[in-house]
Amino acid sequence: MTDQLQVFNTPQEMRAFSAAARAAGKRLAFVPTMGALHAGHLSLLDYARPLCDLLVVSIFVNPLQFDRQDDLDHYPRTWEADRRLCAGHGADVIYAPTPASIYPEGFLTKVSVANMTEGLCGAHRPGHFDGVTTVVLKLFNAVQPHLAAFGEKDFQQLSVISRMARDLDLDVRVVGRPTVREADGLAMSSRNARLSPAERAKALCLWRALSRARSLADAGQREAAALAAAARAEIEAVPEARLEYLEIVDAENLEPLATLDRPARLCLAVWIGNTRLIDNLALN
Ligand code: PAF
Repeated sequence: MTDQLQVFNTPQEMRAFSAAARAAGKRLAFVPTMGALHAGHLSLLDYARPLCDLLVVSIFVNPLQFDRQDDLDHYPRTWEADRRLCAGHGADVIYAPTPASIYPEGFLTKVSVANMTEGLCGAHRPGHFDGVTTVVLKLFNAVQPHLAAFGEKDFQQLSVISRMARDLDLDVRVVGRPTVREADGLAMSSRNARLSPAERAKALCLWRALSRARSLADAGQREAAALAAAARAEIEAVPEARLEYLEIVDAENLEPLATLDRPARLCLAVWIGNTRLIDNLALN
């Protein structure tokens, strides 16, 4: 298949393209990724495609957001497959910067969103969200998109990036899109590829925990502690699953919530073997 996909490897090339496109009145939509594209990413491309003239996907495994070297070393890199998927889902540009072009010798700056990054994943992954916001701001500066789409699966990430865009008056609309799940409820994630078949079966406890809390909330339970306890029991029923955190938070500011008197989110992180999985669900 021949395609018109262009690939840029430096912020300078990307920015020159975007500046010319903007000057010509084009609307740019952007899907930032770390590659290893799956149906969750593709749903973001499919969402953004009709909303823009030019669709840009970035593929950059950002070293700054990894708190463990082995996680960075084992992060899947599937360039050829990713390229084909981007072309098949209507992308015009892949922005795949080299690490040296993003973090040149002497790089000193960090972008940090306070409070919202302290709980949930932030409490267990020191520096992770500073790494995310720093790279996303750099990606936004190079791509200059009108719209950027992120998955709700990384709910804290989406909230933090939305807040950064608001606080720094960024001229980009940050859009969150629903988590894409396998037929049995497992949230799509690049990390699922690391699960053995037996581990994959155990990983379904995340969805069972979320579903249990949701059905109790739908039936009228308003006490967060009771909902969290019921969800926790689903994880604890699987001996191989190690719960890192499970919390019900205010969906707006991510503060812990005692009563479901406003939009709430149940968020959790669970280790299955050596693989850390996260998921979340709205409880309204
Ligand atoms: O969600 C991801 O894949 C990454 O955290 C992101 C937003 C591309 C930043 O590196």
